Amino acid sequence: MAIKEVLRMGDARLLQQTEEVHVFDTPELHALLQDMRDTMKAKDGVGLAAPQIGVNLAVVIFGVEQNPRYPDAEVVPQTVLINPVLTPLSEAMEDGWEGCLSIPGMRGLVPRYTHLRYQGCDEFGALIDRTVSGFHARVVQHECDHLDGILYPMRILDMKDFGFSDVLFPERTVRDE
Ligand code: NI
Repeated sequence: MAIKEVLRMGDARLLQQTEEVHVFDTPELHALLQDMRDTMKAKDGVGLAAPQIGVNLAVVIFGVEQNPRYPDAEVVPQTVLINPVLTPLSEAMEDGWEGCLSIPGMRGLVPRYTHLRYQGCDEFGALIDRTVSGFHARVVQHECDHLDGILYPMRILDMKDFGFSDVLFPERTVRDE
């Protein structure tokens, strides 16, 4: 379909609570998802939420394939997740560096739950119910935060742990999420 402009931090549309999707398997929903996939692929992102392309619906996509450029990255299955509900399975959290396509060129250290159950639907209305940990759990929490108008800098505990990717990690190629 189309590669869309990704809204950047400062745009009020990134701060809204999204609306639930009530009707599945519609041409409009499939078109939205194709735009999201095209945009995520073009930006080499690991995830994208509908509000990032200006659509105020509770829809996220994410996924990380095996990529020779990022040999250490954990593989996350390509997923469409609509109307998600996240349930942490323990109090345990861990810090990890995150980026975001809406905050290009930056990285921040963000605490996330390490073990998580997530439920929701795919684009056909089929139920999704997974228990995940580690990087997969981090990606889901980051993307679903977008649906509540939360951007990762809002979760950074110490703003000293926020900066430009190429300054923080001069040796590494890093990707925005
Ligand atoms: Ni993001």
